[in-house]
Amino acid sequence: MKTAVLVSGRGSNLQTLVKEWKSGHMPIEIIGVGSDQPDALALEYAQSEGIPVVVFPMAGYPDRASQEEDLLSWLKECRVELLLLAGYMKILSGNFIEKANIPILNIHPSLLPAFPGMHAQRQALEYGVKYSGCTVHFVDKGLDSGPIILQGAVPVLDDDTEDSLSQRILKEEHRIYPLAVNLVASNKLAIKGHRVFIKQ
Ligand code: GAR
Repeated sequence: MKTAVLVSGRGSNLQTLVKEWKSGHMPIEIIGVGSDQPDALALEYAQSEGIPVVVFPMAGYPDRASQEEDLLSWLKECRVELLLLAGYMKILSGNFIEKANIPILNIHPSLLPAFPGMHAQRQALEYGVKYSGCTVHFVDKGLDSGPIILQGAVPVLDDDTEDSLSQRILKEEHRIYPLAVNLVASNKLAIKGHRVFIKQ
């Protein structure tokens, strides 16, 4: 399955996905990495792995719609069949999702529907939950609201900081994102309403 990844920052999830793919564990081919941030570390990593990178910096466009048009053209030109958001910090519009017409997956650092949006780990600490984690879900036009594919839970410890909790969650992210991509790419999922089932 021809796959593109969108990133905005460090790229640890991208690294995990690339490693799994290159070690032959995922039936996908990562054909490119796109970013809204020209200096994202993730882009350096992608280049070091020989993966083509493209940047779509917001500053280069009059509005979000024209940035998304370029993003769409890139996906179409490369015949991308699966789009993975790996720390991509821009919200994709309903129009983009409709026109792209391919599965789009996102990983979010909380047990959705708790703590959508920015600073999910800080939100979890401030709320005082005893467990948090991460969620891989299909992207729909809402904010972190699409059908959930997999979740991983971790405890929140009394002496946690935003950083220590983020690190614990990140380990789970690296475990479940490749699993979820595998399920999608091997056509093992059935979506009924808002629920996602693994086919037997
Ligand atoms: C990850 O924790 C990911 O879940 C989060 O950004 C981080 C990116 O790290 N994504 C979101 O918050 C999306 N709403 P990475 O660049 O090292 O993969």
